[in-house]
Amino acid sequence: MRLAQYALLVTAIASIGAVELSQQLKIPSIWSSPMFQSGGDTSSSTPPNGQPQPQSTSTPLSESFQIHPPAPILTHSGISCSVTLVNRSFANSYGSTSHLLFDPLVSFSGTPCADPISWTGLTLDIHGETRGRQFDRLGTVWIGNNVTGQGVEVMRLDNPEPTRTGVYWDIQKDVGRYWSLWSQRADVVFDLPNIVDETYTGALNVTLSLTASVDGVVGQGGKHRRRASVAALPLAERAPDLVLPLSKRLQTANSVFLITGVNNASTSLTIPQNAARAIVEIYASGTANEEFWYTNLPTRFLTPSLSSAGYFGHGTYREVQLHIDGRFAGFVTPYPVVFTGGVNPLLWRPNANWGSFDQPSYNVDITPWLGKLTDGEVHEFVVKVVSGETGGAVGEGWFVSGNVQVYLDESGERTTGEVVRVEGGDEVDGWVDGTMEGDPTTNGSLTYEVGLRRSRKFGVVSSIRTGSGKEYLAGWYQQAQYGNEGYVNATAQTNDQRSYGWMRSVVFDNSSIDSSWSWDDLQILSDAGLQDVQAVQLDYNYPLYVASYLSNSSFDAQVTQQFDRTVRRISPTSSTEALGQMVGDETTVVHADPVAALAHTTLSSRRGEARSVLVDGHIANGTGTSEQTFMYRDMAGGTIDRLTRTNTTSVLEDRLRGSASGRAQPMQLTTA
Ligand SMILES: *[C@@H]1O[C@H](CO)[C@@H](O)[C@H](O)[C@H]1NC(C)=O
Ligand SMILES: *[C@@H]1O[C@H](CO)[C@@H](O)[C@H](O)[C@H]1NC(C)=O
Ligand SMILES: *[C@@H]1O[C@H](CO)[C@@H](O)[C@H](O)[C@H]1NC(C)=O
Ligand SMILES: *[C@@H]1O[C@H](CO)[C@@H](O)[C@H](O)[C@H]1NC(C)=O
Ligand SMILES: *[C@@H]1O[C@H](CO)[C@@H](O)[C@H](O)[C@H]1NC(C)=O
Ligand SMILES: *[C@@H]1O[C@H](CO)[C@@H](O)[C@H](O)[C@H]1NC(C)=O
Ligand SMILES: *[C@@H]1O[C@H](CO)[C@@H](O)[C@H](O)[C@H]1NC(C)=O
Ligand SMILES: *[C@@H]1O[C@H](CO)[C@@H](O)[C@H](O)[C@H]1NC(C)=O
Ligand SMILES: *[C@@H]1O[C@H](CO)[C@@H](O)[C@H](O)[C@H]1NC(C)=O
Ligand SMILES: *[C@@H]1O[C@H](CO)[C@@H](O)[C@H](O)[C@H]1NC(C)=O
Repeated sequence: MRLAQYALLVTAIASIGAVELSQQLKIPSIWSSPMFQSGGDTSSSTPPNGQPQPQSTSTPLSESFQIHPPAPILTHSGISCSVTLVNRSFANSYGSTSHLLFDPLVSFSGTPCADPISWTGLTLDIHGETRGRQFDRLGTVWIGNNVTGQGVEVMRLDNPEPTRTGVYWDIQKDVGRYWSLWSQRADVVFDLPNIVDETYTGALNVTLSLTASVDGVVGQGGKHRRRASVAALPLAERAPDLVLPLSKRLQTANSVFLITGVNNASTSLTIPQNAARAIVEIYASGTANEEFWYTNLPTRFLTPSLSSAGYFGHGTYREVQLHIDGRFAGFVTPYPVVFTGGVNPLLWRPNANWGSFDQPSYNVDITPWLGKLTDGEVHEFVVKVVSGETGGAVGEGWFVSGNVQVYLDESGERTTGEVVRVEGGDEVDGWVDGTMEGDPTTNGSLTYEVGLRRSRKFGVVSSIRTGSGKEYLAGWYQQAQYGNEGYVNATAQTNDQRSYGWMRSVVFDNSSIDSSWSWDDLQILSDAGLQDVQAVQLDYNYPLYVASYLSNSSFDAQVTQQFDRTVRRISPTSSTEALGQMVGDETTVVHADPVAALAHTTLSSRRGEARSVLVDGHIANGTGTSEQTFMYRDMAGGTIDRLTRTNTTSVLEDRLRGSASGRAQPMQLTTA
């Protein structure tokens, strides 16, 4: 029995040369199972292999969903207006993107949202329908123009796998932070590479729309009702002034970088001389050999027999690094998104994993580097993905892109400053331990552990002087902990991963700081929340447990996972005015006049189990169950508390409560 071929959805990539062509083509052998040939309907008689299914167009589609934080996170719009950007049946769409020239003045002409200057909220809305048999496919949405650059990724999405009778899904993403791009003429690209043939019959019929809102208030609901009167500031006044691409910057095609081995993704940019604050946002997902990176084996244990059984190397640790002009500027820890075809597809029906329909992104505050970046020269931004093994190489590969969100000083004059202190760097102090007994693909086993030798720290603090004369110290600090215990034998595979840490943006009033102070001194100072310190900290925790068990007659899997991001504000000032200034999902201090984001929390805990019956090595039938709790606290104290339970065919329970539950995604589900 080769468990990997069931559990790890091995991708058929013959050579590096084939990567570009087949980069999103996943060919799991689980799909040869009769069960999936009938599109997930477990009871019906299964027609012969590979025959297209008659489509029962009369049956209503059932809903597949992903629990998602509300969008927009803060603004309760007075009036909103939607325009359809793309409405297409994506069938054989490899290399065939949808490209359009978007002009808000034309699209919203004659509506209350005709003037982008008045927009207070902005979302991208996906509605999709699919029927038959199909993989989950990775889609991306890009926007850009010829002035600030083409190809800023604004959404990364995936679809539910269809059933014979068909499914639909909806997801709405807050894109207010990209206002500077949507508010003018722009090239928009939607790429959703799909293949439809006799076996994989499911076209992905997807409508992409943009919804703008005007007027409205922030902070409605919640305990602090007096905040309800805070008017939402237009995005023109609170969103970044510029968003610059870290991508291939293509006008009509997908601009994503595919990183393999020790390669990196490099973009050369000029930053405006009056940039007063800047944040890099990163999108990153493992694909092919790296899709299930958190189950990969330490390279030293990857024997030829494990390799031919479908296991991959480079261990389980991954971080995405940012380097600017060859200097390390920070790292982010990716949350393991298990897509709807992952491990065992029965785990994700109809409740898809956190992040599948709208993948999370990650921020690094690069304000400390602005003193140099504002010199009018071209600067090199490099994004790379590294493992914890010697040399840091990863497999094939990672899809990455990013952007630089810039807040300008109104003076137009150059920002100056010096880096005062840097602590920590790009070196990952990883370790591997393990015991191999015999051959794990027959009667032996492998027990291993991958981790960081000590907590991973990085910090940089710099003096900043804006053109209008504001002086302060800007700091970026982060810390990460990681460990993963793995086990492999011929019939079982388990991984138990811990991954947590924090990142903190700090603005110190320059007069209060002595540049000889250490990292720890500065931490203590920002912890203390003194009058002259604005600090905001993102705590994250992404534990994951994955297990698969195979016998001659069964294939069972379990995935238990958490997505926990809590933003704490460590600053003395009262929050009511700040509320109106937030863009929506800040994790850092923003604006030329620094404002720390208010406290907010997103916590999803999900446990899924799948049991399936094997006949002749194929899944004959089976069922999956999921239980998910979701806790959400927005910046105004609005709450959502939710408990959702499903089995393969039904929503068994959906308890939705809280002052912001009217904005829940999805809305209250119908239970069996
Ligand atoms: C998208 O196209 C389909 C098929 O042509 C049509 O039925 C549907 O109404 C369209 N949706 C929108 C939002 O335009
Ligand atoms: C998707 O669109 C195609 C082409 O218009 C159509 O034949 C098919 O029935 C649609 N599928 C779903 C699930 O709506
Ligand atoms: C960018 O330039 C190209 C080539 O001249 C043009 O086709 C495209 O419309 C321009 N895009 C925008 C957003 O103006
Ligand atoms: C990125 O790759 C280029 C080309 O291999 C190399 O010269 C450069 O040093 C790399 N940068 C980083 C930060 O790894
Ligand atoms: C595996 O089987 C081989 C021969 O069948 C035997 O020699 C070996 O001791 C076994 N190993 C373990 C760990 O049971
Ligand atoms: C693999 O490990 C599981 C869990 O420890 C155990 O139940 C099973 O018997 C083992 N299989 C083999 C072939 O050793
Ligand atoms: C604070 O600003 C003054 C100039 O006003 C400068 O001389 C001093 O070095 C700065 N302090 C630090 C710690 O950067
Ligand atoms: C599983 O199947 C293999 C090959 O068909 C057979 O050798 C083995 O004895 C079977 N194991 C069990 C527990 O039935
Ligand atoms: C699943 O398939 C097995 C083998 O064909 C059969 O014995 C069993 O009754 C089936 N179970 C269900 C719930 O259909
Ligand atoms: C799911 O639960 C519903 C309601 O209890 C039940 O009717 C249905 O048979 C269950 N489906 C599976 C696949 O277990």
